[in-house]
Amino acid sequence: MITRIASLDDAEELAELAHASRDFLAPWEPIRDESFYTAAAQRSFLEHNLDAYARGAMVPLIITDGDRIAGRININDIVRGAAQFAHIGYFLGQQYTGRGLASRALGEAIAHAFTVLDLHRLQAGTLLHNTPSQRVLARHGFEPFGVAPRYLRIAGRWQDHVLFHLFNPAQSD
Ligand SMILES: CC(C)(COP(=O)(O)OP(=O)(O)OC[C@H]1O[C@@H](n2cnc3c(N)ncnc32)[C@H](O)[C@@H]1OP(=O)(O)O)[C@@H](O)C(=O)NCCC(=O)NCCS
Repeated sequence: MITRIASLDDAEELAELAHASRDFLAPWEPIRDESFYTAAAQRSFLEHNLDAYARGAMVPLIITDGDRIAGRININDIVRGAAQFAHIGYFLGQQYTGRGLASRALGEAIAHAFTVLDLHRLQAGTLLHNTPSQRVLARHGFEPFGVAPRYLRIAGRWQDHVLFHLFNPAQSD
């Protein structure tokens, strides 16, 4: 396994990772305040994440490379009732890309979502030109089902996203 549940102790290393890759991640993320790169801010995000995890609203995962933190992958916005779906989001520090880590981490997150959480469907959205992320999704069978206009405010602009989804093969009806 290269993923594990996040802990408050990850805050300092996550701040370092985000800071070291800030230029690499900037085109794919919301604009960040300078404070985002502090351990205190990361600890506060983690506190919110772990609170949501305890309520069954999300699963905050760390992607590891040996004893280092390589990135994060989260199963976000878990919707129960008739929907039974969640959103997947992920990133890696620049130095950890190009080695299949995101694909492996996504495989583990899918397994968690479809077995432990017993969800019916996972959804992910990428910018139209985010080919690496689209490759990661395609590798696991995610299919595009539409383009959402002005979907997320990324790098300071409301940008269109391709929406992908994957159905739980164990649930047919
Ligand atoms: C997207 C991201 C998570 C991919 O991580 P990764 O570990 O490098 O991904 P993998 O190595 O598992 O696979 C990357 C795929 O993209 C391909 N790829 C990489 N760079 C590419 C490029 N510039 N153009 C086209 N394809 C590219 C790789 O060949 C591979 O495809 P393959 O499976 O067909 O061989 C990472 O680049 C990242 O964190 N990007 C910034 C944040 C981001 O975009 N997050 C996702 C938001 S939706």
